[in-house]
Amino acid sequence: MMLVMQLLRGTVKHAGSSPQCSAKRLSSAVRGISSSLQQSCTDTDHPKVLITGGLGQLGVGFAKLLRRQFGKNNVILSDIRKPPNHVYHNGPFIFSDILDFKNLREIVVNNNISWLVHYSAVLSSVGENNVALAKEVNITGLHNILDIATEHGLRVFVPSTMEAFGPSSPGDPTPELCVQRPRTIYGVSKVHAELMGEYYHHRFGLDFRCLRYPGIISADCQPGGGSTDYAVQIFHAAVKTGCFECNLRSDTQLPMMYIDDCLRATLELLEAPADTLVSRTYNINAMNFTLHHLIQEIQKVLPDLKVTYNVDPVRQAIADGWPMALEDSAARRDWGWKHEYGLSQLVQTMLTHITTGNQLAQAY
Ligand SMILES: NC(=O)c1ccc[n+]([C@@H]2O[C@H](COP(=O)([O-])OP(=O)(O)OC[C@H]3O[C@@H](n4cnc5c(N)ncnc54)[C@H](O)[C@@H]3O)[C@@H](O)[C@H]2O)c1
Repeated sequence: MMLVMQLLRGTVKHAGSSPQCSAKRLSSAVRGISSSLQQSCTDTDHPKVLITGGLGQLGVGFAKLLRRQFGKNNVILSDIRKPPNHVYHNGPFIFSDILDFKNLREIVVNNNISWLVHYSAVLSSVGENNVALAKEVNITGLHNILDIATEHGLRVFVPSTMEAFGPSSPGDPTPELCVQRPRTIYGVSKVHAELMGEYYHHRFGLDFRCLRYPGIISADCQPGGGSTDYAVQIFHAAVKTGCFECNLRSDTQLPMMYIDDCLRATLELLEAPADTLVSRTYNINAMNFTLHHLIQEIQKVLPDLKVTYNVDPVRQAIADGWPMALEDSAARRDWGWKHEYGLSQLVQTMLTHITTGNQLAQAY
């Protein structure tokens, strides 16, 4: 209880388709586009939103944010997994496999969808262990999303990642436009998504919007097999066991963001008038810290936290190829992006959420 009070005080203080089908789909998309685009323009005050891959780290929180803004029934979460009860009872949820083109089209048509938030993905660590699955979900699945969105004149948001850069990109900071030669299937699929989305925008007028997220940190949900998962796991370990074994070197610096900033940025980009968007793919960033700095900040609240190192050379080599900071001045200039959480606010907020969450769980 003492710890909860201490943390709360701190928080307050710190305030499925073939290539032939694809060609067919595309030509019908081009035919339908002008009428559909008109429709999406008139819908922008109260969009009807479909979130794919909505049961991952980001989707549930984003649905909550959108439902507050647009009403519960205007935001449909979807995934291929069964939702937990609290998600099922909090608003519309349906099964949707992004590899099933016809089913996706049916959902879009039957629900009069105007915005598509495409969160389904196979993240980096999982993707390196199952390249075939990552190719299917992240590349074939994306093609389905872009074709459906074009066919029905949807506004579509597809997240990219700092992992779309690679060892030959300038790293500190990494600009919006530079060499992108990632070495993971996840990174490669995200460069592909950026380029395909921008191509569809220029070629077919698709309202494609994309943010390159840094590593996203949240307390509510376990991360989904990305390579920055350590930055979430350390908080849980600090509260639950007081010990954390780290598989990266302590001087590894990466760009990071608290989930609330990430979701707000996503909504702000989705709502931005099209004529303010000079680009269709933007970097966003909030803070850049080394593991050493993160540990120091956590130890200000939990001085007994013990960290040991068991560096994994494969993971370290991948992390060494990522940006140390993302340059996001274009987002700040074009649509007013501004982060709210720095490192100390992040640490206070994470420890508060995890500690109160644990105590509530124990009470039931
Ligand atoms: N979380 C981060 O730190 C981070 C950073 C950069 C970019 N992103 C991107 O943001 C998006 C959401 O990330 P997340 O962390 O919530 O991912 P996650 O791995 O937690 O969730 C992805 C979801 O996709 C679903 N999925 C997998 N295959 C599917 C299919 N065939 N059809 C429908 N759904 C399927 C999974 O069931 C899962 O719920 C992803 O595109 C990811 O690349 C996330």
